[in-house]
Amino acid sequence: MADRARFAIVAGARPNFMKVAPLMRELDGHAAGEVIFVHTGQHYDPLLSDVFLDDLQLRRPDFHLEVGSGTHGQQTARVMERFEEVLLRLAEQGRAISRVVVVGDVNSTLGAALAAAKLCIPVAHVEAGLRSFDRTMPEELNRVLTDAISDMLFVSEPAGVANLRREGKPAEQIHLVGNVMIDTLRQLLPRAQKRPILDKLGLQPREYGVVTLHRPSNVDDPKVLSRLLEVLVETSKCLPMVFPVHPRTRSRIEKFELTANLNGKPGAQLIALEPLGYLDFLALTSQARMIITDSGGLQEESTALGIPCLTVRWNTERPITVEQGTSTLVGNDAEKLREKIFEVLENRYKSGVCPELWDGKAAQRIANILLEEYI
Ligand code: UD1
Repeated sequence: MADRARFAIVAGARPNFMKVAPLMRELDGHAAGEVIFVHTGQHYDPLLSDVFLDDLQLRRPDFHLEVGSGTHGQQTARVMERFEEVLLRLAEQGRAISRVVVVGDVNSTLGAALAAAKLCIPVAHVEAGLRSFDRTMPEELNRVLTDAISDMLFVSEPAGVANLRREGKPAEQIHLVGNVMIDTLRQLLPRAQKRPILDKLGLQPREYGVVTLHRPSNVDDPKVLSRLLEVLVETSKCLPMVFPVHPRTRSRIEKFELTANLNGKPGAQLIALEPLGYLDFLALTSQARMIITDSGGLQEESTALGIPCLTVRWNTERPITVEQGTSTLVGNDAEKLREKIFEVLENRYKSGVCPELWDGKAAQRIANILLEEYI
């Protein structure tokens, strides 16, 4: 039996918190291991960060790196620089980290993995192997590079295993374990559905849609964004659409002077809100008639919930959500989006199944593998 393990678990942006929560639950306080929880501060707005820590009952981080916003280079570099400092300081104090655990595909994921790998600290990547094959997406570069320097690869769907094998990763480093994000969803769904948010918004279950948009390809070009908003406003006359607006999207809407498109068309019910916490958002998505999104995580959550998901992207790194689940890629083609919205409304839309291993036990499987050499 080796010494006790000491893991550094790193989270930085909104979708990371749902993924680290079940891992923290499995590993924190385990007799065989100790967890140092690091928040990079990539997302710093209370609505994108603190609310999530509270809703997910995550303890406060041991280290907060406060990297904030910036260009991709700045943000990734700040994470590297500040996380390296933490790793070195811990080693000096005789509390060297035995393994760094990173999740997802955000800039914090890559920055932390790089800092660790350069100090020869082994890296485990949770949600490894996903590929959109579109290297114009910052997340795709983050995924490819993080996997290249990780030696434990925890994968959520079979396509990820095939991608990693194709890239030459040895089979013994690859573990198909299921989806940690769905662990969180299954655990918190009963609590979420008790939230009064539908009543507050005057909505009935299955009688509204939920919209989220934040990807540069959808919100950074005024023509694309205004066409998407037009379709949403128009179809909201048939089905109210709840739209919690990411700060990046809100700033684009203001910059392109599209605020008038958002509010105030007669008969339209596009309900723009501030970003929501995890529980309120899950209350809304789990009772929606359909979900319209460009988020990777939400594609998976809608598949797990069995709710139609119109994915506003040309490709996906999560093919199982299209092949087995409830998602359809509509690109940023406003016409196709409109057609698909009506397909759902007229009950002509496909149904899906929940993928194998998305059963709420992924974090348990990961913890067993991480702790194997210490128990
Ligand atoms: C990041 C991730 C993306 C993930 C998304 C979820 C990368 C490359 N992208 O995108 O994969 O789907 O998080 O939200 O890591 N901002 C605030 N407050 C904050 C954070 C950001 O106002 O707390 C604004 C800033 O103007 C910032 C912009 O949002 O410049 C973008 O933030 P950033 O962290 O760079 O990327 P996201 O678009 O949030």
